[in-house]
Amino acid sequence: MTGATGRLGGTGRHVATELLRRGLPVRAMVRRLDERSEVLRDAGMEVVVADFFDYTGLVAALEGIEAAYFTYPVGSGLTEAAGLFAAAGRRQGLRRVVDLSLDAAFPESTSPQGRAQWVTEQIFEWAGFGGAHLRVAAFFMENLPALYGHQVRELGEIRNSFGDFEPSWIAGSDVGAMGAVLLAEPESVTDRTTTVGAAERAGHAAIAEIISKVTGRPVRYRPLPPEEWRDELTANLAAAGQPNPTAAAHLSAQSVALRHDSTHLVTDDIRRLTGRPAVTLEDFLDRNRRSFLPDPGQGAAEG
Ligand SMILES: NC(=O)c1ccc[n+]([C@@H]2O[C@H](COP(=O)([O-])OP(=O)(O)OC[C@H]3O[C@@H](n4cnc5c(N)ncnc54)[C@H](OP(=O)(O)O)[C@@H]3O)[C@@H](O)[C@H]2O)c1
Repeated sequence: MTGATGRLGGTGRHVATELLRRGLPVRAMVRRLDERSEVLRDAGMEVVVADFFDYTGLVAALEGIEAAYFTYPVGSGLTEAAGLFAAAGRRQGLRRVVDLSLDAAFPESTSPQGRAQWVTEQIFEWAGFGGAHLRVAAFFMENLPALYGHQVRELGEIRNSFGDFEPSWIAGSDVGAMGAVLLAEPESVTDRTTTVGAAERAGHAAIAEIISKVTGRPVRYRPLPPEEWRDELTANLAAAGQPNPTAAAHLSAQSVALRHDSTHLVTDDIRRLTGRPAVTLEDFLDRNRRSFLPDPGQGAAEG
């Protein structure tokens, strides 16, 4: 299990939790021991420390592992991480990998993340692993507080270049639940590449309205040209101490590509694979309303 300490979609943690609920043993690979790894240990996981860029550590982390969940943040370094993970997995006899990917995973994608995800899928094919490439044809709801929380708090605005395009929205917990099904019940899908959709779609003006409703404060949507949004996002991420030009380039490229030819999907995949209804956007934004309030005391968030 990789990515169990994740802060954005946090899909690794959700996959691990679902597997433990099924009574399966889980080993979580973390970069360092901290309060997040303590939570994983307390939940019943074996915790090992390793980094995607340390081959020796990966070999040790994968000893005796039959099936792995591979996730890597939106950002640079993905293909090198996948190559090292695949090499270490082959050395240790790893049999199956479920790798988290996305709808933009094709070689001609205008998104650097999309191209790197496609290469990553290829690497796991060449390594000869079984398993599945889990392509999510939607944005994670967790992007909303992460990307726009500070703008809503400070300016009462959501700013980006999606315009009136209506992305599909999925919660990281639902992605994780589907990842766990693919790991625990490999026969549940027949295709090597499994593209899953979300249960709903919504444009950013409608999202601004929902945030207004759950916070009781006015929030408006302001469309920006793609280059302006990319530069603003690059600067904001750097100012927040999380420089990530790849994420900025990915999102602005996707804002153009999806408006031109949408690959986002609305499907019943979440209920079909997990047997549970999808987390709704309104529920998610309500639970996370504190991220959008200037004074955190104004709303009691549940996370
Ligand atoms: N965001 C979206 O809207 C969206 C939509 C569709 C598909 N996806 C796909 O979802 C994936 C991201 O998944 P996610 O949201 O679950 O990720 P996430 O929450 O950002 O978690 C990434 C995990 O990777 C770990 N990590 C980072 N660098 C590492 C390293 N060098 N060695 C070991 N571990 C490392 C992080 O550990 P630390 O916490 O210690 O850094 C963290 O646990 C990407 O493949 C993306 O393409 C995203």
